[in-house]
Amino acid sequence: MSALTNVVYLLAAALFIFGLKLLSHPRTARRGNLLAMIGMLLAITMTLLDKQILDFTFIIAGLVIGAAIGAYAAKTVQMTAMPQMVALFNGFGGAASALVAYAEYLQLTSDPSLDVTITMVLSVLIGTVTWWGSLVAFMKLQGIMRGAPIVFPLHQFWNILMLIAVVVLGVLFTMNVSQQSYLLAIVGVATILGFMLVIPIGGADMPVVISLLNSYSGLAAAMTGFVLSNNVLIISGALVGASGLILTNIMCKAMNRSLANVLFGAVGTDGGGGPVGDKKSVTEYSIEDAAMVLESAQSVIIVPGYGLAVAQAQHVLQELASLLQQNGATVRYAIHPVAGRMPGHMNVLLAEANVPYDMLYEMDQINEDFKNTDLALVIGANDVINPAARTQKDSPLFGMPILNVDQAKSIMIIKRSLSPGFAGVDNELFYDPKTMMVFGDAKKVLTELLQELKG
Ligand code: TAP
Repeated sequence: MSALTNVVYLLAAALFIFGLKLLSHPRTARRGNLLAMIGMLLAITMTLLDKQILDFTFIIAGLVIGAAIGAYAAKTVQMTAMPQMVALFNGFGGAASALVAYAEYLQLTSDPSLDVTITMVLSVLIGTVTWWGSLVAFMKLQGIMRGAPIVFPLHQFWNILMLIAVVVLGVLFTMNVSQQSYLLAIVGVATILGFMLVIPIGGADMPVVISLLNSYSGLAAAMTGFVLSNNVLIISGALVGASGLILTNIMCKAMNRSLANVLFGAVGTDGGGGPVGDKKSVTEYSIEDAAMVLESAQSVIIVPGYGLAVAQAQHVLQELASLLQQNGATVRYAIHPVAGRMPGHMNVLLAEANVPYDMLYEMDQINEDFKNTDLALVIGANDVINPAARTQKDSPLFGMPILNVDQAKSIMIIKRSLSPGFAGVDNELFYDPKTMMVFGDAKKVLTELLQELKG
């Protein structure tokens, strides 16, 4: 590898690291993405030139087809379907790493060194687990497969047995590299392991698993980097592995769960669920009445949730918030770390509507202020405000920190019905005497409220 190649790889690695740093804040995230993309372009171009490829036909064909599918998917995917798209991307990353490592094996002319053999096994193993695990995650989120946890008798026992089998096969392969059957058996066991590790996970735990699989895909890439002796692949794989783990940790903390509990706890439900029914009484407000309440509130905290994203109501919400501000009210947005369906979902959504960043407050920054606030205006959020997380020990939400909406002087909730949120749990807040329910699609209700306030 030439000195120039290594210098370009170093530059690409620096761009990845700066890109990641900038991704940590909504204000700089776009620039971060751009820097990382430039880094990736440099890394790919340099690799293609460095390898003195004689015939680019297949590479160009692959680039064109891949780029076309990627561009189409990026343009058309609904914001709310992002988690399953990310799951698929992770899966493809894992599969690519495993395939490249396997291809290297097939091309061997002599026995490789021990470190190359070990990383080959690890790449095939982790890559295959990532591919099948991500496919299960995709199918669960897309509704192709049941979202609730699926657990077999002695589930963990079988998992441990398969882990032991894979270690034994790995050792056997390392000692007899010419025996392809060992490597094939590793692929087989890793396939079952990928399924078995993800099927018991359901409900609100899916995002944690997706970021863990993201981390795995990075590890698989780093291992393939060792197989190929490619520095930039080792670095970028390690960065993906580490950042995926950090994200997993952040999400576990946001839900107040340990990773072991997420992976082996088998909690959560199908999500969605049917309507809870009107067994208790709720206070329903008309648009006119709701507009009057909004007009008189001096301080408002807006709580956006998944329903806001579904309705694509972020622009009209921002218009309404500006109007309330012009009328003299203090308006802030409270962002729960797992509101919506992916990390940073609400930040991205509100940035799209040009909501000023200084109006956005993280849960810890604003939670103490609810009790001094006239009105908590909840739009399409449910689990992240559900007091069952504090009080009901048997609830899948138990222990998850929530926004203290219940402490506000009054509460207005905009949603279509009394249906539960993602975790499938009824919300006692709907029946609280100080809660005003305004039923309807978020965009429609907010548009009508805006007209009423302007009129
Ligand atoms: P949810 O608890 O899922 O509640 C969303 C609510 O929006 C639903 O109850 C639904 O009620 C309402 N809704 C749906 N479409 C609507 C529309 N067009 N107009 C108005 N309302 C609409 O959302 P949340 O409070 O944001 O909580 C997020 C949940 O998702 C948590 O359980 C979290 O763990 C999980 N999760 C989070 C992530 C990340 S990392 N953010 C990823 C995956 C899952 P109606 O049907 O009655 O309208």
